Amino acid sequence: METKSSAVRAYRWEPDGLWLLDQRRLPAEERWVACRRPEDVARAIREMVVRGAPLIGVAGAYGVALACRLHAGDPDAVERAAEQLRTARPTAINLAWAVDRVMARLRREGYAAELAAEEAGRLADEDQHSCWRIGEAGATLMPVEGGVLTHCNTGALATAGIGTAAGVIRRAVARGHRLRVYATETRPYLQGARLTAWELSREGIDVTVITDGMAGYVMQKGLVQAVVVGADRVARNGDVANKIGTYGLAVLARAHGIPFYVAAPYSSVDLSLPDGDAIPIEHRDPAEVTQVAGVEVAPPGVPALHPAFDVTPAHLVTAIITDRGVRYPPYLRSLPLEEATAP
Ligand code: MRU
Repeated sequence: METKSSAVRAYRWEPDGLWLLDQRRLPAEERWVACRRPEDVARAIREMVVRGAPLIGVAGAYGVALACRLHAGDPDAVERAAEQLRTARPTAINLAWAVDRVMARLRREGYAAELAAEEAGRLADEDQHSCWRIGEAGATLMPVEGGVLTHCNTGALATAGIGTAAGVIRRAVARGHRLRVYATETRPYLQGARLTAWELSREGIDVTVITDGMAGYVMQKGLVQAVVVGADRVARNGDVANKIGTYGLAVLARAHGIPFYVAAPYSSVDLSLPDGDAIPIEHRDPAEVTQVAGVEVAPPGVPALHPAFDVTPAHLVTAIITDRGVRYPPYLRSLPLEEATAP
């Protein structure tokens, strides 16, 4: 199966360590950060040098390889480093899932850096294939002509492949759908304005940035025929945790009769959680909210909230586009199936 594209790649595994494209600086500057120790990777994940559910999983997996290198002959130290990596960010299940998968192999076959790196590479290859399959499955759900609204960044900067929701958009455009993409800026980190707009525009995809508060306006004006977003974790009942603001978009989409699609690899599905209430939501530094590009915009001393994710209830989700096919409600029945059946 073809899975390559001209999409950017945000990480490189080199003999001297893991190199990450610093996403905090895009699109102004393409700067790479070298991670030579597992702590460097954990910090890069926490500080969002690297981000996006599948890609932090890949980074965490390579972090384990660095731990094996640093702590050769000391499995306990590798175990401790792995625990630090898997908890660097709490909401996306992909991070713990990826680290656990590498660790399971090391516990079976020995704590060797080559093994860990091989497993991390395999995981990245699988994610590349997953993105392609999600893209192909989701493309058919996109309008032949019209507006598609997306949130945050779910593209090649968030995965090891063409992306999830962005992959759906990419594959639809490649098949000849005439789409105008509305990318919400996604306060406070601006993944939409800085990253999605950068990724899509450099491939010639028609992308227009809107502030988060403009979503209702564009829907009311009839400019949006579908919404497609990614996920950080999907509970067994189909509740979806994704970037803060996603829930509001789902409510707006329902109010305007617009389909609301979630695109995510099956590795984002956490069947152990009954519903979205059980998904841990990361709360980040409020200073990221009171500042814009490092400039204080709120009066000193006024508190700010910063939940980085919210939960969209399953009843607002039209379908979940996975690498194992498109899942329709009721998700309690459709999500656990190995392969999708017709709705
Ligand atoms: O805080 P971020 O930028 O890591 O959040 C990313 C998202 O919420 C994405 O929508 C999600 O991880 C899916 S990425 C394919």
